[in-house]
Amino acid sequence: MTRATDTPSGNGRDLEGRTGLITGAANVRGIGMGAADRLAAMGCNLAVSDLAFRMDELEANADRIAETHGVSVIPVPIDVTDRGSVDEGVAATFGRFGRLDVVINNAGTVFGAPSPLHTYDETDWTRTIDVNLNGTLRVSQAAVRLMQPGGSIVNIASRAGKVPAPSNGAYSVSKAGIMMLTRVMAVELGGAGIRVNAICPGLIDTDLQRLNVALKAHVAGLDEEETERQLLEAVPIGRMGTIGEIGDLCAFLASNRSSYLTGQSINATGGLLTEA
Ligand SMILES: NC(=O)c1ccc[n+]([C@@H]2O[C@H](COP(=O)([O-])OP(=O)(O)OC[C@H]3O[C@@H](n4cnc5c(N)ncnc54)[C@H](O)[C@@H]3O)[C@@H](O)[C@H]2O)c1
Repeated sequence: MTRATDTPSGNGRDLEGRTGLITGAANVRGIGMGAADRLAAMGCNLAVSDLAFRMDELEANADRIAETHGVSVIPVPIDVTDRGSVDEGVAATFGRFGRLDVVINNAGTVFGAPSPLHTYDETDWTRTIDVNLNGTLRVSQAAVRLMQPGGSIVNIASRAGKVPAPSNGAYSVSKAGIMMLTRVMAVELGGAGIRVNAICPGLIDTDLQRLNVALKAHVAGLDEEETERQLLEAVPIGRMGTIGEIGDLCAFLASNRSSYLTGQSINATGGLLTEA
C-alpha cells in the first residue's frame, strides 16, 4: 500500500510558478475575473481567454491582474465552440509558459428566449449545450494532453444543474451534464494525478445575474428591486455571492490545499442549496 505524504502548507502563494487558463474571462464583473484575481493572488501565471471580439476587455483585465499580483497574465482569444480555436489557445498558453497546471472552464451562456423544454427552439438548445457542455469537454481535452500530475480542472456548473430551472431547460441540462462530465473525468484521470471538480454557484452578483433578475421582473410584472428581494428570501445568508467568493473556491480547488478532492460538484449558494 502506498502512503500519501502531506506537503507542508505554504505562504499563501501556493500556485507560485504554476500556469492557469481561464475561459470566459473578459467581463470585469464576471466570475472568470473573480477566479483570475484569486488565482493570481496565490502566485499563478495566467492565460485569460474569451471570444476574439472581447480582446480589448481581456487585455485591460490581464494588465490589471498582472500589476496587482506581480504575475504574468496573457490574453488569449478562445471560442470554446471551435476546436481549432481551443487547440490554438491552449497551445499558445503552453507555448508562453511551458506548462499548464490549472483550467477553469467558466465560459457559459444561454441562447434564445425563455421557453419550456417541450417548445424549446432546437437551435437555441444546440447552441447553449455547445458552449456550456461541449465547450467544457473541448477545452479539457486540449488541456489534459499538456497537463502534468498535480493538475486541476475546475468546471463552473450551476445550482441550475441540480435543481430544475423552468423555461431555462437547455442551461439547466447543460450544467447537469457538466457535473457528470466532472465525475467521469475525475475517475478517468485520477491515476494521471489530475483532479477534476465543479462549482455550483447560486445567485452571484454579475451582469448575467442582473439580466436574469431583470427578465424575472419583466415576466412577473414587478420592479427589479422587489424581484431581487423575493429571490434573496430563499438565501439563508441573505445576499448574492460575489465573484471573489467563487474565485476563492476556484483557487482552493486549483491548489494542493484540495489535494484529496476530486469528482465533486460543490455548492456555493449562501445556503440556498444544502443537499449535495
Ligand atoms: N452569475 C451567476 O449567478 C451564476 C450562477 C451559476 C453559474 N454561473 C456560471 O458562471 C459562469 C460565468 O458567468 P458570469 O455570471 O460571470 O457571466 P459572464 O457573462 O460574465 O461570463 C460568461 C463569459 O462566457 C463568455 N462566452 C460566451 N460564449 C463563449 C464562447 N463560445 N467561447 C468563449 N467564451 C464564451 C462570455 O463572453 C462571457 O465573458 C457561466 O458558466 C455561468 O453559467 C453564473
